[in-house]
Order: sequence, then C-alpha cells, then structure tokens
Amino acid sequence: MGLRQLHLLQDLLQQMFFQMCPHLLCFLLLLCVPDTHSAKCPEQCVCDQIQLTVTCNSKNLTHIPPTLDEITVKLDLRGNDIQELPSGAFKHTPYLTHLSLQRCNVRRVKEGAFRGLGRLVFLNLANNNIDILYQESFDGLSSLKQLLIDRNRVEEIQPGAFSQLGFLNLLSLTHNQLVYIPNMAFQGLQNIKWLRLSHNSLNYLDTEALAGLFTLTRLSLDHNELQFFPTETMTRLPGVTRLDLSYNPMTYLGEEVVSMKKLTHLFMDHMSLQDLDPTAFSKSSKLVHLDLGHNQLRVLQPFSEGTSSLARLNLAGNPLSCNCYLRPLREWSIRNKVKLLGTCGGPAHLSGESLEAVYPPELRCQSQEAMLRAEREEAARITPPPTQEPKNKVKCPANCACEADTHHSSCENRAHTKVPQGFSPGTRLLDLRGNHFHFIASSSFPGMTQVVSLHLQRCKIVEVEDGAFSGMKGLIYLYLSENDLSSLSPGAFKGLPQLTYLHLEKNRFTGFPRGAFSLVPSLLALHLENNSISRLEPDVLLGAGSLRSLYLTGNAIGNVSPRALEGAEDLDTLHLGGNKLKEVPTEAFSKMGSLRELRLSGNTIRWVGPNAFRPLERSLKELYLDNMGLEKMSQSSLAGVGPGLRSLFLEGNLLEEVPDLHPLSSLEVINLAHNPLMCDCPLLPLRMWIEKVNLKVRATCANPPELIGRRVKDVQVFRACPGGESLPPPPTVTPKPAKAPKATKPKPMHLKGPRRVKMLKAKRRKQGSNTKPTTAKKTTKRQTMELI
Ligand SMILES: *[C@@H]1O[C@H](CO)[C@@H](O)[C@H](O)[C@H]1NC(C)=O
Ligand SMILES: *[C@@H]1O[C@H](CO)[C@@H](O)[C@H](O)[C@H]1NC(C)=O
Repeated sequence: MGLRQLHLLQDLLQQMFFQMCPHLLCFLLLLCVPDTHSAKCPEQCVCDQIQLTVTCNSKNLTHIPPTLDEITVKLDLRGNDIQELPSGAFKHTPYLTHLSLQRCNVRRVKEGAFRGLGRLVFLNLANNNIDILYQESFDGLSSLKQLLIDRNRVEEIQPGAFSQLGFLNLLSLTHNQLVYIPNMAFQGLQNIKWLRLSHNSLNYLDTEALAGLFTLTRLSLDHNELQFFPTETMTRLPGVTRLDLSYNPMTYLGEEVVSMKKLTHLFMDHMSLQDLDPTAFSKSSKLVHLDLGHNQLRVLQPFSEGTSSLARLNLAGNPLSCNCYLRPLREWSIRNKVKLLGTCGGPAHLSGESLEAVYPPELRCQSQEAMLRAEREEAARITPPPTQEPKNKVKCPANCACEADTHHSSCENRAHTKVPQGFSPGTRLLDLRGNHFHFIASSSFPGMTQVVSLHLQRCKIVEVEDGAFSGMKGLIYLYLSENDLSSLSPGAFKGLPQLTYLHLEKNRFTGFPRGAFSLVPSLLALHLENNSISRLEPDVLLGAGSLRSLYLTGNAIGNVSPRALEGAEDLDTLHLGGNKLKEVPTEAFSKMGSLRELRLSGNTIRWVGPNAFRPLERSLKELYLDNMGLEKMSQSSLAGVGPGLRSLFLEGNLLEEVPDLHPLSSLEVINLAHNPLMCDCPLLPLRMWIEKVNLKVRATCANPPELIGRRVKDVQVFRACPGGESLPPPPTVTPKPAKAPKATKPKPMHLKGPRRVKMLKAKRRKQGSNTKPTTAKKTTKRQTMELI
C-alpha cells in the first residue's frame, strides 16, 4: 500500500469515527490517536519530536528534504550541497523559527526563496558562495531578527534587498567582496542595531550608503580599504555609539571629520595614521573610549574642546617620540583625566616607558643638532633597503601602483594621457581617476575581464568611442563622473553585460544621452546629476528595461514628455529635484506602476493639482515636494497615494494650508516645517490629524501674528472651530511665558473673508513687491526660525 493510500485510509477512518460518536468524549479520544503526520522525518535526518527540531548535518543533500514535518521549528541543514535555493523553498515548513544553511555551497538565493517563513527569527547563510543579493531574496522574512551572510562572495547588493526585514536587529556581511555600497542599500531595516561589514574591500562609502538606519547603534567597518573617514555618511547615522574602523588604510584625520553625536566608542587602531587635526573628534562630544593604537603617530596634539567625555586614549604601538612636542598632550591628559595607554618609542632613555609613567618635565627636547642627527639615524633605520623586492609581485604599468592581495590597481592623479596598458588580468578594481585622457579609444581595456569597478572620474573625457570597454565582462561599476562628456555614441557601452551602476554625473550633457543604454542589459542605476539636460524627450529610456533608479537632480529640465519614461517601467526611484519644472509631470508617470520614491524638491512648482500622483497610487512610498515655492495643493492632490505613502516632505514652501492628511494612513515621516501656515479654522483638519497620529509633524503657525512661531499642535484657536470641540483643552497649570501676547484682542476664532484677506495683504506688503518665490521663501523661513 502506498503512502497516498495510507493517508486516504486514515482520513476515511477519522471521518467514520466522527460519524459514529459525535460526543465530546469521542473527540478527546480522537485527539489521543497518534497523529501519523508528526512522525514524518527524512531518512538522512535526526528529528526531535518534542523540541520540533530536524538536523540533517553534512549529509550531501542536494535539495531541501521534501518530507519535513510541517510543524518543524528548527531546521539545521549545515554542510550539505544545496547549490540553489529556489523560490518558495521552505513553503512546507511555515513554523520555522531557526534555519541554518552554513557550508551548503549555496550560490544563488532566488527571489522569494524564503517566502512563507513569517516566523523565522534566525537565518544563517555563512560560508556559502552567494555573490549577489537580489531585490527579493529575503522577501517574506517579516519577523527575522538575525541574518548572517558572512564568508560568502557578495559583491553586489541590489537596491531593496533588505527592504522587507523591518524587524532585523543584526545583519552580518563580513568576509565578502563588497567594493562599494549603493545608496540606500539597507533601506527598510527599521530596527537594525548592529551592521557588520568587516573584512570586505570597501574603498568608498557614498553619502547615502547607510541612509535610513536611524536605529543603528553599532557599526563594524574594520578590515576594509577606506582611505578617508566618511564624514557625510557617518553623520547620517544619528544613533551609532560604537564604530569600528580598525585596519583601514587612513593616513590623516582632518578638522572635525568625526561628527557623530552619540558615539562613545571609536576604534581606529591598526590604520596608517600619521597625523590628525586637534579638532578631528571635537564634534563627537560623547566619546569616551578612543583607540588609536598601532598607527604611525610620532607626535600628537592635545584634542581641542568638545571631547570632554574622553576617558581612555589608546596609543599603544605608535612610534611616539617622548620629547617636548608630546608635552602638551601629556599635560592635557593629566588635566582632563584622560588615561593614556601606550609607551614611548624614543628617545633612547625613555624608550619603552609607559606614557602614564612619564611626567611633563621629563618631556624635553635636545639641542637642534642632536635632534637632527637622531632623526637621520632613525630614518636610516626605518627606510627599507632599496634592493628589497616587494613580497607579492604583480604585473603593473609604469607610474601605477598595483596590489596582488587585494587585486587593486591604481594610477590616480598621475597625469597619464593614455589609458595605461599591462595590468594584471586578475585586477578587480582599477582606479584611473584624475588623469588627462580626453577620450577613451575603442578596446582600451583588453583582457581586463575581472574588473568589477572602474574609476575614470576627472579625466577630462570628451568622447567615449564605440566599444571602449568591450571585453570587460565582469564590470559592474563604471564611474565617468566629472568629465566633459556632452554626448554618447550608441555603441559607447557595448560589451558590458553586467554593468549595473553607471555614473555620469557632473558632465556637460544638455540632452539626455539616448540610445547608449540599450546595450547595457543589466543597468540598474543611472546617475546623471548636475548636468545641463533641459528636457526629457519621448522614449529616451527605450532599451533600459532593467533600470530601477534614475538620478537627474541638478539639471535644467523644464519639460518632461508624457512618453519620456516609456521603456523603463520597473523604475522604483526617480530623482528630479533641483530642475526647472513648473508642474508635476503626472502624464509621464502613467505606466510607472513600480515607482516608490519620487523627488521633486527645489523645482518651482507653485501648485499641485488634483490627482497629480494618481498613476503611482499602488507604489509610491516616499514623496519629496520640499523647497519648491509651493503655494497651494489641491484637496485631492494626493488622491490615491494615501494608503501607501510612508514619507512626505513639504518643508520650505509657501503653504498656508495643507490638504486633509487623514487618508495618509501609513505615513511614518512628514515634514511641514518652514511653511507660513495660517492657524485658523481652514487648518482644522490638519490639527485634528495631528491629534490622531503619533508623528513629529514640524508644523508652526506663521499667521495670525499673535500665533507666529507656535506649534500648530499647541495653539488653542482650533477648539473654537466647528468640529474642533473634541480637541484637548489647554493644560491647566501651564506657566505662561512672561512675554505672551495679551489677550486683549478678540481671538481670531472663526475668521473668514475680510480679516483674513487683510492679513494676507499685510504679509505680502511685508515681503515687498518682489514676488520671486525664492525671496519670499527665505523671508518666511527666517521669520519662522527666529521665533522657534
Ligand atoms: C558525502 O560525499 C563525500 C564525497 O563524495 C563522501 O566522502 C562522504 O562519505 C559522503 N557523506 C555522506 C554522509 O554520504
Ligand atoms: C551636485 O552639485 C551640488 C552642488 O554643487 C552638490 O552638492 C551635489 O553633491 C552634486 N551631486 C552630485 C551627485 O554630483
């Protein structure tokens, strides 16, 4: 009898049983009949029926065992040979909380592989061969707290890869091959506490690379290739208290570079620091523990004010000269009770002495002559003999530097006029920025099939010939920013099957370089910021079917054809800020059913009409309409997008009223700051909405005059409006500020018509006859700010 028949028979028996005795007693009896389902256990595995765990450790399994019990809670599949995790791979075990998949030779996690695992809290994918994290690889893991992807080969994170992991606390991506992190790569991690990116090849962090991680407290970036402290990126991480940057090749820290308000522990040991500015840490006032051990510091100035919390400064392993130049630091450490760890590297009589044991009077300088002699001797001692060969020899053109270990080759700022030839074919990162190539001839990179990232910024390039990059089969990141390109030939990017991120910002394009992108099948993100593109004509994106992000901020676009975006229907991010648009280009969005983020900031859009974003109603999550001189929004301007929208930015406009925000039921962020809001009955819906939501709204009154600068939430006028009676009364024992306006005038309760018009006129007069929105905006902004 087959298994199927057995099940049928069982079902039949159960049915009969029910028909024969429908009483409670019988039902209880039925519960006691052993359930054959719970005995399911794949042959190669060990199952614990009580703990509900299944262990199939190192069994050469090539698939997820199909006969797992549905109620399994922990599944351990370590050490198997499961090369690919297909979509829905675990759909038969929806109760899993722990899943271990280490050492399984996994190469690919298909989109939706974990769909259905809504209870999973722990997922370990370490020691596999995963190279790309796809947009939907982790969809469905809505309860996941820890995700470990260490020791894989991840070199690409697609935008949105983690967007569904709203409960994740720990994401670990150590020992991978990340060279670069795209903007907003970690978007959606709303509860992340610790992000581990140690042991990668990161050499640069974009300003927005870690954007949106408001809850992050701990960040590990040690063992990477960062040459500079990524100030802008770090400043956008408001909650980080511990930052580990050990083992990065930084040589210098400039003025106020570390500006992190909550930072308490900073690890910058084992870098190549030779010097640092006394103010380097002065914008991190909470810093308690600073590790600068094992750098190349010979002398160090006392830190300037601002680091008053500092208690421990580790300087161990630096070649510190304990002479008169170090005395100010020692005095400062005594005065501020900063414990210094480390020893003197010289002069001879203090060498090896603990810094704490040396007192300021002992820190003296010899005569100049003696000092020079000592310096010469020391220089002779530390300069390696010129005949010594580097340990790992690697092919490298003249006037370039190549490293075998990291597969990085660089000829940055060397005034090359032709692309140098003769790099090792194993090169993965090729940095040629800051040269004078003027043009890139066809086939300029023969045999460079392994290059992942190619830097050609600031090379005065005016032309890229057809097939310039052909043969670069592995190229993913191409940087052509800050050149002089004004057009692109359609064949410019021929032969780049994997090109994913293309940077063309700060060139001289006056029109959209159409046609060139149809040969780049994998293009996901296209950067064209800060060019002079004046219009988007029909079909400029035809052929760029996989494009997800298009960045056009800082151009001169005044006109977007209704068919401009056709062909790029999967676009999810569109930045059009800082252009010359006069209206929302609604028609162009008609087929953009996937657009999640739209930025229109800084255009001169005075009015947003009804249904302006209606075509995006299913997808739009973030909308930027700030600093536009916006005077009015139609009541139905946001119609449709309500249930989905998560962020709405309206700051720095000229709005006196806003449309009813009640339909925006998913809103998490809103900014209404710096608008001349008129605190009167027409604004009641906003006031009622503020009462209802638990959001920081940043709305202040700019009118009537007696309410200037007060928060909309705090003023009482709305209680007198029809429908506003339910608002909470003022707290009874509020201590009034001494200069509160006297209540001699009747309160501007339900004022309409004449009074209001008069007030508006008064305001306009105040702003002068100049109606340019920028001027007006500035005035309002200043007025409001002064009064906050
Ligand atoms: C797995 O395969 C390896 C190599 O083929 C073999 O040596 C080993 O015994 C196998 N293990 C099991 C549990 O079958
Ligand atoms: C564009 O230019 C502005 C102003 O100079 C600058 O702040 C911004 O970073 C630039 N953006 C890019 C992507 O180059």
